[in-house]
Amino acid sequence: MFYDAVKGEHGLAHNPFKAIIAPRPIGWISTISRDGHVNLAPYSFFNGICDTPPMVMFASSGRKDSIRNCEETGEFVCNLATLALKDQMNRSSAPVAHDVDEFKLAGLTAVPSRMVAPPRVGESPAALECKLLDIIHLADIDGRPADQYMALGQVIGVYIDDAVIRDGMIDVAELQTLARLGYMDYTAVRDKFAMTRPVE
Ligand SMILES: Cc1cc2nc3c(=O)[nH]c(=O)nc-3n(C[C@H](O)[C@H](O)[C@H](O)COP(=O)(O)O)c2cc1C
Repeated sequence: MFYDAVKGEHGLAHNPFKAIIAPRPIGWISTISRDGHVNLAPYSFFNGICDTPPMVMFASSGRKDSIRNCEETGEFVCNLATLALKDQMNRSSAPVAHDVDEFKLAGLTAVPSRMVAPPRVGESPAALECKLLDIIHLADIDGRPADQYMALGQVIGVYIDDAVIRDGMIDVAELQTLARLGYMDYTAVRDKFAMTRPVE
């Protein structure tokens, strides 16, 4: 099959777009508002975009609290979601009011970050402390503004639980890093293989 994605006429029971871009890592984003309300929510339109300096992005469908807080205070933290934290991660995605603290809602511990104001998830084995670089209000090929917002941040501090570092490395298969597939599906990294790049 082939479908025109501008018209969106896939004719399938469910839109296959996100199932094709899968697995997607989950940025479990903590932020704080100008008036001090802490916020936590998962974003699977999330990724690292470069490493020198390290930068990440997440994109919000609508101006959700995470974007508003980033605009207000210019900082965010990307917490690592693992299989063991799947239920807490899911609970933190509930569409609750701006002033509801999803750390409390999901029964998670808000631990102070080192270099930014938003706390990290204490139960998560790793967290990236970020300073906001930009929020891009996305527009389509006709220049029409979409109700989509992309936050870009530079990672200025990295927390890793010492217990998950073995021989100077992190074993993601042991952490069982959680990722989003299409529809309501998820996966966790359980196996891996290595390849070296070809040389000329
Ligand atoms: C695994 C997962 C991934 C999600 N990814 C996104 C995403 O990439 N963009 C988005 O706008 N919402 C996403 N959501 C929904 C948000 O988490 C949800 O709307 C949340 O209430 C937003 O919280 P906030 O308003 O506190 O930022 C996702 C939800 C789940 C469970």
